[in-house]
Amino acid sequence: MRLYIDSANVEKIRRLTEYYPIAGVTTNPSILVKENHPFLDTLRQIREVIGTEKELFVQVLGETAEEMVEEATFITDRLSGSIVVKIPVTEEGLKAIKLLAGQNVPILATTIYTSFQALMAALSGAKYVAPYVNRIDNLTGNGVKVVAEIAQLFAAYQLPTEIVAASFKNVQQVHDVCLAGAEAVTVGHELIEKLIAFPATLADVHAFKTEWQKTFGTDLLHS
Ligand code: E4P
Repeated sequence: MRLYIDSANVEKIRRLTEYYPIAGVTTNPSILVKENHPFLDTLRQIREVIGTEKELFVQVLGETAEEMVEEATFITDRLSGSIVVKIPVTEEGLKAIKLLAGQNVPILATTIYTSFQALMAALSGAKYVAPYVNRIDNLTGNGVKVVAEIAQLFAAYQLPTEIVAASFKNVQQVHDVCLAGAEAVTVGHELIEKLIAFPATLADVHAFKTEWQKTFGTDLLHS
């Protein structure tokens, strides 16, 4: 299982990369707009923070396959390190995925709401697919079930494409897609900080220290 940060906030990414086992950073146009800063500069700063080996995901805006391919080239020409181009699963998107996969450009097929969209993207050569778990739930669907179906289809047809489950609003959704067979999740910075937060853990740590201080009069083993 891999954990990506779904954010373009450089300071948050810096902090989370220090503490958590982060595999890379995913962005989309809304995430980059939120930073209100020239997007190439933001992406270069993120690259500096995460290094060249961790994956950095950038989404295209074009509506035709030709526009998407041009944007993919624009991005890969200007950014160093491991770049994954995000392409929405429309008809034009599938065409772009086929063209780019033919040039060995790693693609994440995004904005996925159904397992069949994921299957089409995988057959077209996408390296990753990103089902939008919470957005599916918001449409009275079941995001976790869609992830489980995708995992089942990829296993049945022995497809190498991996699931990077996306769009989460709570820790339960993240937990459930991991059990459903997602190879990776991409999670916003606020939610990553909640993944391991549990009040009983902090209370236990505090109790251990208090007992120790009372008996030995020190705060640390070596002091
Ligand atoms: C990630 O790649 C997606 O763009 C993102 O997770 C969408 O999340 P949202 O539904 O919270 O906007």
